[in-house]
Amino acid sequence: MSQITEIAPEVFKITTFISEVNLQFNQFLVRDDEPLLYHTGMRGLFPTVKEAVAKLIDPTTLRWIGFSHFEADECGALREWQQIAPDATAICSFVAKFVSVDDVVAERPARALKDGEVFETGKFSFKFLQTPQVPHAWDAGHLFEENNGTLFCSDLFHQNGEVEPVTDSEIVSRFKITLLDYQKGPFANYLPYTSQTEPTLNRLAALKPKTIAAMHGSTYVGDGESAIYELAQVMKDVLA
Ligand SMILES: [Fe+2]
Ligand SMILES: [Fe+2]
Repeated sequence: MSQITEIAPEVFKITTFISEVNLQFNQFLVRDDEPLLYHTGMRGLFPTVKEAVAKLIDPTTLRWIGFSHFEADECGALREWQQIAPDATAICSFVAKFVSVDDVVAERPARALKDGEVFETGKFSFKFLQTPQVPHAWDAGHLFEENNGTLFCSDLFHQNGEVEPVTDSEIVSRFKITLLDYQKGPFANYLPYTSQTEPTLNRLAALKPKTIAAMHGSTYVGDGESAIYELAQVMKDVLA
């Protein structure tokens, strides 16, 4: 069963905890004229995510499916969604579209967003930022909802465990614990630290997000700019 939490006006977090990996997987539904789902989750999660989405909208009316990069938890169930929602179109980076998405998981061609492009779903507008290797993968990008300042940050701020849906206390220490824990096992070097890391995180901080919607763990509500600078320091300390 997935849990639904409204994290910002008309932005709903759908959380499923997988105990085997001690990890939450979050998808986000933005309810607007053209509904948008950010992250599909893996194919195995499709039935529970679909059930949750059906409590918020008619799932066949889903129009856009966004994600950061090509990976199972980001877009694994894209085809399943496109098979039930005839107008659902993937939105992702040019690299994601051309390198993997159209060939492997898309029922129909994705729409590639350019760096800095603004995209509207009705009352909400989103800015797309191309962010290679942040959080990881060549094709990575980030989506920022401009009206209320929600940053969909994918694997940044990843926190293991069964944590609360939303928090206003700092989550960077939890992120650090997760990162250090992963460094000791098969998930080591989860996030690369490259010459792109700091400038890219600075770009994200400059958006001054009020809500940080992480794929794994709690959503953070508060001073997003400071939180991203703290996260940058942790990544430098642990990974550089
Ligand atoms: Fe990822
Ligand atoms: Fe992830």
